[in-house]
Parts: sequence; structure tokens; C-alpha cells
Amino acid sequence: VKRLTVPQLMAYKGQKKIASLTAYIAPIARLLDESQDMILIGDSTAMVGYALPDTLSITIDQMAAHAAAVVRATRRACIIVDMPFGSYQESPEQAFRSAARMMSLSGVAGVKLEGGAVMAPTTQFLVERGVPVLAHVGLMPQHVNTMGGFKAQGLNDAAAERIFQDALAHEKAGAFGVVLEGVAEGLARRITEALSIPTIGIGASPACDGQILVTEDILGLSGDRIPKFAKQFGDAATVIRDAAAQYADSVRDGSFPTLDHCFGVKKNVG
Ligand code: KIV
Ligand code: NA
Repeated sequence: VKRLTVPQLMAYKGQKKIASLTAYIAPIARLLDESQDMILIGDSTAMVGYALPDTLSITIDQMAAHAAAVVRATRRACIIVDMPFGSYQESPEQAFRSAARMMSLSGVAGVKLEGGAVMAPTTQFLVERGVPVLAHVGLMPQHVNTMGGFKAQGLNDAAAERIFQDALAHEKAGAFGVVLEGVAEGLARRITEALSIPTIGIGASPACDGQILVTEDILGLSGDRIPKFAKQFGDAATVIRDAAAQYADSVRDGSFPTLDHCFGVKKNVG
């Protein structure tokens, strides 16, 4: 099995849809690898995996450790990691240092970074030095404090035009794709038609070249935090809760473990 490359993903544009989910740990990544074209180690792990209020405080080392686990557990999907807040906004040089560190620590194929046109020079700096970049525009969770919450973007003409230009700027800069998060549907469709690189939507439009969701959201593992744009496709919560309860019952009533689960048990040769 050959791993899907970034250029191969780009060639999906106009041919077939890109299916993508997030993974932070090996057991989930292993199960997603069969079905997903791309797996993202999202900084959403701050909220989903670490129960933090936003994505701002996750570090390069945490992201790289999760990314390395996902790479080791997969062989087919193209693996991309999020650049965490504060690791790339300062300068293209800082971004390259951070991206190179995460790539060498984990073996991912590229990075995703949030930002409008202002970050396009950084995208170009990285791509020209061998780092594939997936841009992320629209609702940018790392901007939660300037937005004043997680809110859909591009709902009026001026805002939509700005986001359109953001996506265009990253395409010109050499991004291999653009994630469109939480934007007006018509805007996402318009961007998808205008760009020659794939758009990957989340709360965007069915017209996007691909879709991405947070895996815990589709499995019912996000508690009460499921956003409007997600859909629950399965109920892992019930599976986990029931297995844990059965285990606890078995421990309490003494039916687990049996001698089959123990070491050095003399075989009864009666
Ligand atoms: O962090 C994340 O999970 C993401 C995607 C859902 C796009 O950025
Ligand atoms: Na993210």
C-alpha cells in the first residue's frame, strides 16, 4: 500500500471528493486509515482531547507527539498536522522552524495553518522550502478572542469578499488546498469554483471538493459540544459506556478475571 501524497490529493479536484477526518491517537487513526483520504491531527484536540475551552494553549510538542502516533498507526491516508497557535504567526522564518520541527518529529506530509491573505507570504515561504501547506480561512478557531466566540463568517458581502480574497491569496502562494470553515454556503461554492486547488469544507458547502469533520463529533463522543455543521454517524458513546459498565460489574461480582486471564496457573490434570 502506497501512502496518498499531497499532489495526488490535489489531483482529486474535479475528479472525486476528498473524505477527511481528524485523529489524535493511534487506535482511532488505525480505524480511519481504511476509509479516509486525508487525516488531520487538528488542534481541536485541545478542546476535544484535553477538555480545554479553546485551541490556543496546545503546544508544538503536544501536536508533534499526537502526529507521530497517527503516522505510525496508518499507511494509506495523507497525514496533515495543524500548526498550533503562536508557532507560525510571528514570521515566515518562525513558521518554517515550527513546521520543520513538527515534520521531522512526526513524519507528516504537510501542515495546516489558519490565516487570511496576511499569512499568504508565510504559505509561500513554507511551500518554496518543501513544506506542503493547507490553508484554513473563514472561521478560524485560533482567532476566537478577536471574533468574540465561534461564529459563522462571510455572511455579508464585504466579509465574503474578504474571505474570497484570502482563499485566492493562499492559492497564489502555493497552498495545496484550502479548508473553508463556518462560512456562508454560497461563498464556499464560489471559492470552490474559482480555485484550481481543492477546497475542504466544514460548515461550508456540499459543493466543496472535500469535507472534514472532527471524528469525536461523528461518533457521539463530544458530549454537548456538537456544532450545527457536524452530523453524528455512529454511537461510540454507548459502546464504550456499556463495555465499561459490564467490566465494572464483572469485577464487582468476581466473574472477571477467570483463571484463563492469569499466569502460572497449574493445569488441572484430574
Ligand atoms: O482542528 C481541527 O480539527 C480542524 C478541522 C476540523 C478543520 O482544524
Ligand atoms: Na484546527
